[in-house]
Amino acid sequence: MMQTYQFSDFGLDAADIQTIGLPPLANDHIRVAIRAISLNYRDWLMVQGSYNPRLQKPFIPCSDASGEIIAVGAEVGTWQVGERVITHMLPGWEAGPPPFDVHRHTLGGPAPGVAASIVDLPANALVRLPNSLDWVTAACLPVAGLTAWNALRCLPKWRKPAWVLTLGSGGVSCFAVQIAKALGHQVIATSSSEIKLSTMIELGADHGINYVTHAAWDKAVLEFCPNGVDLVVEVGGSGTLDRSVNATRLGGAIALIGVLAATDASPNLTKALMKDLRLQGILVGSRSRLEEFVAFVAQHHIKPLIAKHFHGFKALPAAFRYLSNLATPGKVVISL
Ligand SMILES: NC(=O)c1ccc[n+]([C@@H]2O[C@H](COP(=O)([O-])OP(=O)(O)OC[C@H]3O[C@@H](n4cnc5c(N)ncnc54)[C@H](OP(=O)(O)O)[C@@H]3O)[C@@H](O)[C@H]2O)c1
Repeated sequence: MMQTYQFSDFGLDAADIQTIGLPPLANDHIRVAIRAISLNYRDWLMVQGSYNPRLQKPFIPCSDASGEIIAVGAEVGTWQVGERVITHMLPGWEAGPPPFDVHRHTLGGPAPGVAASIVDLPANALVRLPNSLDWVTAACLPVAGLTAWNALRCLPKWRKPAWVLTLGSGGVSCFAVQIAKALGHQVIATSSSEIKLSTMIELGADHGINYVTHAAWDKAVLEFCPNGVDLVVEVGGSGTLDRSVNATRLGGAIALIGVLAATDASPNLTKALMKDLRLQGILVGSRSRLEEFVAFVAQHHIKPLIAKHFHGFKALPAAFRYLSNLATPGKVVISL
């Protein structure tokens, strides 16, 4: 038997645990017993219906999980029962640029998600884990970690140490701080809260700026780093982009990741081109980049910041409620 968290409609009230018999395993699929699930803000938007109002129901949310292979389809090549794995949110994107249908197979909408005790997935939705990574650490890597890893890849290789600016203390930004420090860079972190800023400093950030008490946080960045930073990990979108451009050095880069501070205002693109900036959109990343990132995390002993660790399948609605409050920096994880 297996359990899935099915949503018959949008909203946490429509969530129900279904216990069903195991279906036959497709020849090209791998069966994974889920050990831990981590939540992303996208999952919360998805269950509320604001990410994709046309999502087909019922649906199973969530894209990030770690687990153990318990069965392998007849046509699956090199995978074995007992191997430890994590999910790759965008199955079919192996390497290089994303394929044209990349969004069609996204785990947790439109494809079924990983909020289940057991999932059947194609091999291209999995990445192997080294034994040194525990289930909780591993479950945090697929989206927030990989996105931050790809953002850091926007830095020119020769610029070391570089200055990196992270915005806010969400899951992506926390990983960005840890990766940047492991790569030997200098980090300036912003947050709306002094307590969260101290957490970012504990994670490794060299300087913190409160973007509420310092509305002109771009100027505050230039006090630490007069020429401007080499890279901004941009999670705010149109509401923060102008200041991010101001805070970036000539020839620097801005990794466009999120739209948490989206407004109707149009960013001043002239300044971006006059500074010869590289504005790079980031869509999580490919499976080969996730493999690369897993190896990096193991090599540098990176431990994701956990905001709250829930236990047991039934905790999913409580975990979503916790995530929606954005009260504590880091990842929300559920161990099964
Ligand atoms: N492009 C992609 O592939 C990709 C992948 C993952 C996530 N994302 C997107 O990236 C964004 C961040 O993701 P996440 O998982 O890190 O989210 P999260 O954990 O929910 O991050 C929330 C945090 O963002 C910060 N924030 C909110 N408004 C801000 C503002 N105006 N200026 C600076 N910081 C602000 C806040 O930090 P403080 O509380 O410290 O102020 C807040 O706690 C989301 O929009 C998400 O949808 C995109």
